[in-house]
Amino acid sequence: MIIVIDGPAGSGKSSTARAIADRLDIEYLDSGALYRTATLIYLEANRDEDTFFRLLNQKKISFYYEDQKFHVAVDGQSVTDEIRTAEVTGAVSEVAALPRVRSFVNNLMRDVVLDGIYVAEGRDLGTAVFPDAELKFFMSADLEERAKRRFKERKDQNPELTLKEVKQNIAERDLKDSKRQADPLKKADEAIEIDTTNLTFEQQVDKICSKIREVLKN
Ligand code: DC
Repeated sequence: MIIVIDGPAGSGKSSTARAIADRLDIEYLDSGALYRTATLIYLEANRDEDTFFRLLNQKKISFYYEDQKFHVAVDGQSVTDEIRTAEVTGAVSEVAALPRVRSFVNNLMRDVVLDGIYVAEGRDLGTAVFPDAELKFFMSADLEERAKRRFKERKDQNPELTLKEVKQNIAERDLKDSKRQADPLKKADEAIEIDTTNLTFEQQVDKICSKIREVLKN
């Protein structure tokens, strides 16, 4: 069984999906982390597509959720922190736009959700990856608000970061993620839209959890 949450960067999907997984004791799947992992391999291949696809097919990518964190490993080596660097964040939209990368990541995800109940988050899960998902949500928030949230999250790790930079990075990614040809960021017609601009974290988690509980009951 799969519940999907799509939305742009900084809309609150990751933290909300993790809180939901903990509260309802279900599995969590972070599709963005898998695109970030592919990007790490792309950078390791010095952006050479042939080398990149060879490496992508050779390497074993494994992942699991534990202690509020989505852990990813490549050939048994953890890359959980490396996939969050500014270098990876700057290149990820370019890599995620490659159709072969999208089908690679989609296959990884479709295989893993065959067993158990999952809440998965991304950009195109309700439209392209899991069109038959039991429940679909689309989270949104004003650009200004999303930038403030990301800035707060990242500034301790990166003291030189400015709000302006974060806002610019999110705006660029929004544009690339929604304009790309292959499975762009898009709300599924039947997805429930949750605008989180004026909601507290607890309110957004409560709202989604109560809808999921209704579905789990039936
Ligand atoms: O959610 P995130 O910021 O970690 O995602 C990183 C990038 O991955 C994002 O800029 C777009 C891409 N992505 C995607 O194209 N499709 C998804 N389902 C999830 C993420």
